[in-house]
Amino acid sequence: MLKNDELEKWDRENFFHPSTHLAEFARGNIPHRVIVGGQGSTIQDREGNKHLDAFAGLYCVNVGYGQRKISDAIAKQAKELAYYHSYVGHGTEASIILSRMIIERAPKNMSKVYYGLSGSDANETNIKLIWYYNNILGRPEKKKIISRWRGYHGSGLMTGSLTGLELFHKKFDLPLSQVIHTEAPYYFRRADKSLSEEEFSTFCAAQLEKQILAEGADTIAAFIGEPVLGTGGIVPPPAGYWQAIQNVLKKYDILLIADEVVTGFGRLGSMFGSTHYGIEADIITIAKGLTSAYAPLSGSIISDKIWKVLEQGTDEYGAIGHGWTYSAHPIGAAAGVANLSLIDELGLIENATTVGKYLNDEMKKALLDHPNVGEVRGEGMLCAIEFVEDKKQSKFFDPSLKIGPSIAAKLFDAGVIGRAMPQGDILGFAPPFCLTKDEADKVVIETKRAVEIILP
Ligand SMILES: Cc1ncc(COP(=O)(O)O)c(C=O)c1O
Repeated sequence: MLKNDELEKWDRENFFHPSTHLAEFARGNIPHRVIVGGQGSTIQDREGNKHLDAFAGLYCVNVGYGQRKISDAIAKQAKELAYYHSYVGHGTEASIILSRMIIERAPKNMSKVYYGLSGSDANETNIKLIWYYNNILGRPEKKKIISRWRGYHGSGLMTGSLTGLELFHKKFDLPLSQVIHTEAPYYFRRADKSLSEEEFSTFCAAQLEKQILAEGADTIAAFIGEPVLGTGGIVPPPAGYWQAIQNVLKKYDILLIADEVVTGFGRLGSMFGSTHYGIEADIITIAKGLTSAYAPLSGSIISDKIWKVLEQGTDEYGAIGHGWTYSAHPIGAAAGVANLSLIDELGLIENATTVGKYLNDEMKKALLDHPNVGEVRGEGMLCAIEFVEDKKQSKFFDPSLKIGPSIAAKLFDAGVIGRAMPQGDILGFAPPFCLTKDEADKVVIETKRAVEIILP
């Protein structure tokens, strides 16, 4: 392609980038980066620089870049039929086959899939369906949703409210009043250091029960949580957490949404985080790994228990008043079918388990002795390092020092992409499942080097 010398100018003048310091970008203080290609775990920019993408885009390119089977399936679908809608019983072969493939992989109580385009719209769908469900059951007061501080569930009005991160609320008039936040299952940052993991899980469940009783159990519809906190810091749950939480939810007849946008389809080394941790959800949110981001597609996997009430609702009130033009878009569905087949064919979940463990073990060996490394944690193909000013006193750095972002920037200069997580000095990794041990070694070596430059 002919090089367009005005691209940077146009980028700064016309492109509104998400999750970006807008003024700094416009002023030219944030690099303009144009990515043109990718193969396996590596991406390439317009200048020919290559980077090992140890965050798989936004933890979504799970099969890795350049997988021809998926791009060929997309091209074939686009040539045959780029679009038809899925309203009033319509569909394509791909959307029907994909639904079957998802249900075959999902926990046994699941029976239907509703499609959207993003994790955010899937969670919006979930909340609407739960409100509808409780109205059909004659419980119009049971509408509030409990989410966790540090949870991430999207950027919409409701989903941005469910998200428990300051940046997503500040100056947006969020959260909405129907949302309540509860304790984050973040053992490393617990207030009471004397608690064991199990005791901290019991504490989180007790806090939850206290909030439910204060609000009135008959006003609480659902609890939403990621099996492993993702954007909030890549934090696996403390021992016994999900069991303790589910005991409380069952006691008060509160539905459970497992947001598996990051964990679905293998990231933890299991097909779903729900099965990994014994979570019996009523709805599971999926996106990212459903197509490995080769095309936008999300879904709400609905349990039979919810489905039966939705059916009853349409018998009473007519067709369900919820749909997107692009629900089950054929190109996304074709990408999903090819992607899920490829994950099986290449044994990528097994690779996520073995190389993910290797990455975590090696990162611990390389960094745990560093005086400013408070914790190295992870599960499957997820890994995070949390930096502290003082290890003994668990004192965190002043955020204005930007320790996490500085380390991520140094790492980038060395050709490896990690992500400075948005709240805390936390460097996150979520590589493609095809990562090799040699590539994992490179991630660890360059991370150690970057840490030693910023925190000598
Ligand atoms: C757990 C979780 N849920 C929902 C979302 C929102 O997905 P999207 O950005 O596709 O709207 C994300 C995105 O990172 C996520 O990590």
